[in-house]
Amino acid sequence: MAKRIGVLLSGRGSNFEALADSVAAGRIPDAEIAVAVSNREGAPGIDRARARGIETRVIPSKGLQREEHDRLVVATLEERRVDLVCLAGYMRLLSPYFIQKFPQRILNIHPSLLPAFPGLEAQRQALEYGVKFTGCTVHFVDENLDAGPIVAQAVVPVRDGDTPETLAARVLAEEHQLYTEAVRLVLSGKFRIEGRRAIAAEAPRAKAT
Ligand code: GRF
Repeated sequence: MAKRIGVLLSGRGSNFEALADSVAAGRIPDAEIAVAVSNREGAPGIDRARARGIETRVIPSKGLQREEHDRLVVATLEERRVDLVCLAGYMRLLSPYFIQKFPQRILNIHPSLLPAFPGLEAQRQALEYGVKFTGCTVHFVDENLDAGPIVAQAVVPVRDGDTPETLAARVLAEEHQLYTEAVRLVLSGKFRIEGRRAIAAEAPRAKAT
């Protein structure tokens, strides 16, 4: 049976679209996007999902305690029998309640090589620090900000003339590919977690001749 992905977003939704494209094209096989959930009214990503005929839910977080909001989101995901939750520009920390409901089944993408530059404006942080390379990270989600075992990373050069915007655009292009690879791996189940390390199962060896 197709694995069901729930995407949580708060804004633009380009990573959501990249995942939706990959599902549609079979780059993420045997999967479907069951629902896209936003905590913000008017998030462009939700319009993008609607335009694709994907079910959407807006569950405003304003005025709610973290766990109160998470209970509504979890109920929505459980109703849709979601197997994997993908955070895609979802601007909220998850409560322990949420994490426990989906153990090792929540992924996030962050635009830096974690553990460098967690939090907001990661590309600006990288530029201001003066690193020559940055990138993006897909990791399992725990209660801490941009923490949790790392599934995949991609490296992007920082150029002398970069602004936060030009760097963010270069990183974003990698994000779109990396998220697909990470989701494919996690849905395949061909990995194990040892401590902080997510280790992909060994690729089958070529047959000796
Ligand atoms: C991306 O840079 C992602 O890494 C970060 O938030 C941004 C979301 O962009 N977590 P989009 O909404 O997917 O276009």
